[in-house]
Amino acid sequence: MEKKSGIKIVGTGSFLPEKVLTNHDIEKIVDTSDEWIVTRSGISERRIIDDSMATSDMASIAAKRALDNAGLKPEDLDFIIVATVTADHYFPSTACLVQKNIGAVNAAACDVSAACSGFVYSLVTGIAFLNSKVGDRIMVIGAEALSRITDWEDRSTCVLFGDGAGALIIERCEKGSEVLYFSLGADGTGSDLLEIPAGGSRKPASMQTVENREHYIKMKGNELFKWAVKKMRDLVADAIKQSGLTKDSLTYVIPHQVNIRIIDAALKRLKVPIEKVVLNLDKYGNTSAASIPIALDELNREGKLKKGDNIIFVAFGSGLTWASCVMKW
Ligand SMILES: CC(C)(COP(=O)(O)OP(=O)(O)OC[C@H]1O[C@@H](n2cnc3c(N)ncnc32)[C@H](O)[C@@H]1OP(=O)(O)O)[C@@H](O)C(=O)NCCC(=O)NCCS
Repeated sequence: MEKKSGIKIVGTGSFLPEKVLTNHDIEKIVDTSDEWIVTRSGISERRIIDDSMATSDMASIAAKRALDNAGLKPEDLDFIIVATVTADHYFPSTACLVQKNIGAVNAAACDVSAACSGFVYSLVTGIAFLNSKVGDRIMVIGAEALSRITDWEDRSTCVLFGDGAGALIIERCEKGSEVLYFSLGADGTGSDLLEIPAGGSRKPASMQTVENREHYIKMKGNELFKWAVKKMRDLVADAIKQSGLTKDSLTYVIPHQVNIRIIDAALKRLKVPIEKVVLNLDKYGNTSAASIPIALDELNREGKLKKGDNIIFVAFGSGLTWASCVMKW
């Protein structure tokens, strides 16, 4: 899929819970060590929401911050898309709760389920809506309360994930800013590599499923690892080629913050200089759909983005799914 169009990002926002859970804290919960977690994943700490909050609360704060950043009112939004695997409820959608919380009375709202690729899937969905002139201004949010679906007795997964939310607003523009390229993909044959086995219509929640801890994330990390390195490498190589960028004209790659070894192995071979790769997984862990918009917002607020910068967003995750998008700031 490919589409060149006049679309720009006009605002970004994010929210990270105050509570920091360090690797040393996790050493007290499961049999692990700071050294193992840092060398195997690059993660030192992550943020965890408190009991009073859910995904829609984090998403709403990130959304309000994006509106402030853009100088827009909630009524200016035509559509809110929330990417999440930790919706507050099966239904209503988390996007509807955000719409209520921020008072976006003119906006349609729905969630997108594509796991860690969810934010880029949602961004591309928003771009397609703008291209078809269905709306003028769209809020795209990635928000996750992964601590709520993490098995805190499973050391192979609980060290990896964190909570947070990021948002951006896109709108149609005459020229200047552009979407240079996007690509989406899926391979459902790998659906058992990363899943929550129970709690859906396949295996409804029961005393037994809870006892078996089947309502938590199960991941075949080892099997995913090699696939993930190749997928990230192929996606970035394809995005550079198809958007006509060179290694010099590429300003930033914002990868899904999954594991420093995966990102390093994928991008080193492509000779993308490390200073062009935006990383924050040491502080926040893997926040699934929230990881890319949080990283973008940090870059924006640190004043590191300038007009004309070329940014590649790239993600993959459960499904299996993958997605890339190249935009000019
Ligand atoms: C999860 C991941 C970090 C594990 O790293 P790894 O190097 O593959 O580690 P392994 O799973 O091979 O485990 C190696 C050993 O460490 C142990 N181990 C696992 N978790 C541990 C932990 N937190 N602390 C200490 N030891 C741990 C294992 O039991 C295993 O021990 P063994 O050799 O005695 O059996 C890595 O596989 C990964 O990042 N996978 C991809 C994840 C991914 O792409 N997910 C997509 C989500 S978007």
